[in-house]
Amino acid sequence: MSTNNRRWILKQRPVGDIRDGDLQLVDAPIPKPAEGQILVRNIYLMVAPTNRVWMSDIDQYMAPVQLGDVMRGVTMGAVVESRHPAFRPGDVVEGGMAWEEYSVTDRARPVPVGHGLPLRAFASVLGNSGMTAYFGLTEIARPKAGETLVVSAAAGGVGSIAAQIGKILGCRVVGIAGGERKCRLAVEEFGLDACVDYKRGHLLEDLRAACPDGIDVVFENVGGEVMDAEMTLLNIGARIAVCGLISTYNANGDWWAPKMFRNVIMKRARIEGFLISDFVPRFAEGLAVMAPWVRDGLIKYHVDVVDGIENAPVALGRLFSGANVGKQVVRLAREPAFG
Ligand SMILES: NC(=O)c1ccc[n+]([C@@H]2O[C@H](COP(=O)([O-])OP(=O)(O)OC[C@H]3O[C@@H](n4cnc5c(N)ncnc54)[C@H](OP(=O)(O)O)[C@@H]3O)[C@@H](O)[C@H]2O)c1
Repeated sequence: MSTNNRRWILKQRPVGDIRDGDLQLVDAPIPKPAEGQILVRNIYLMVAPTNRVWMSDIDQYMAPVQLGDVMRGVTMGAVVESRHPAFRPGDVVEGGMAWEEYSVTDRARPVPVGHGLPLRAFASVLGNSGMTAYFGLTEIARPKAGETLVVSAAAGGVGSIAAQIGKILGCRVVGIAGGERKCRLAVEEFGLDACVDYKRGHLLEDLRAACPDGIDVVFENVGGEVMDAEMTLLNIGARIAVCGLISTYNANGDWWAPKMFRNVIMKRARIEGFLISDFVPRFAEGLAVMAPWVRDGLIKYHVDVVDGIENAPVALGRLFSGANVGKQVVRLAREPAFG
C-alpha cells in the first residue's frame, strides 16, 4: 500500500471556467481511522457539475468548500481498515466526500454490490446519477404513458437514464444534446424517439419539429436557451422537473433566468426543483426497481472513465465542454470483480 494520499485543495474560487491554479494537488500521509471510523481506498470519484457550484461562495444547498480545504466530491471505495462495528475490510462503501485517494469517515453508506453487475454500475446508473434520474422523473416530473417528455443533456449521466426510464413508462421521449454523435447515440443506443442537436443553431425550430404535439413534461439538466425553447412549446398542464442548470454554473454574477417564464401561467404549468440528497433514504427502493431494468438491458448506461486523481479537474471540465458521454468518473484504483 502506498504511503501517500494525493488530494486536491481548493486554492481560489474559479471565475468562469475552472483554470490551472484554482486547485492544487498535494501529498498527505494516509490518515488513520479513529474509533468509530473506517479507512477507505477510494476506487471511483464521481465528479459532478455541482462540484463547480461548491467551489463558489453563492448561497447554496451545502456550505461552499472553504479555500484551503480538500475539494468535496462523492467517492466509492473499499474499506482497508475498520474501527467501526458495521464495516469490515473489503466492504464497498460510498461517502468519502473528498477529491482524495484515501478517506477516513464515520458516515459511509454500504454499496449493495452484486445483482450480476460491475462496480462501475453502482458508480453511475445505480448510484447518485441513476437515482437522480429515477426519483426526479417518477416523483417530481411524473410523466404519464403517451405524453411527450423532453430531456436535456440526453447523452449525459443523468439525462440518458431519465430518458430511458421515460421510455419504460410509455412516453414519447425527445432528447436534446450537443452534436450529431451524441444525438445518434441517444436514438440508436438509448432508444429515444428523437434527439435535437442544439449545436446546429436552430434549436427552437428543430425542437418544434421533433415535438409536433407540444411538450407535456420536461426533465431539465441545462437551463439557458435550451430551457427557453422547451418552455416555448409547453402544453397546458405541463410539468418541469428542474434537476440542473449546468449552462449557468460557470456564470460570473447572477444565474440565468427563463425568458419564457410567462408560460408557467399561460400553460398552467408546474415547475419544481429537487435535490437527490433528499431521496437518499429511499435508494433501496430505487435500486430494487432499477437493478433488474439494468441487468435485463432495458436501461443501457455509459461510464466515461478518466484515470488518476491528478486528472480530476480535467474530468470535471469534460462535463462543461460536453466531452463526456454518460457518467463521468475518475478511476483511482482498479475495480474489484463482484458476482
Ligand atoms: N438535482 C440533483 O440532485 C442533481 C443530481 C445530479 C445531477 N444534477 C444535475 O443534472 C445535470 C446533469 O448532470 P450529470 O452529472 O449527468 O452531467 P452530464 O449530463 O453527464 O454532463 C453534463 C452535460 O451537460 C451538457 N452541457 C454542459 N454545458 C452546457 C451548456 N452550456 N449548454 C448546454 N449543455 C451543456 C453537456 O452535454 P452536451 O454535449 O449534450 O452539451 C455535458 O456533457 C447537471 O445540471 C447537474 O447539476 C442534479
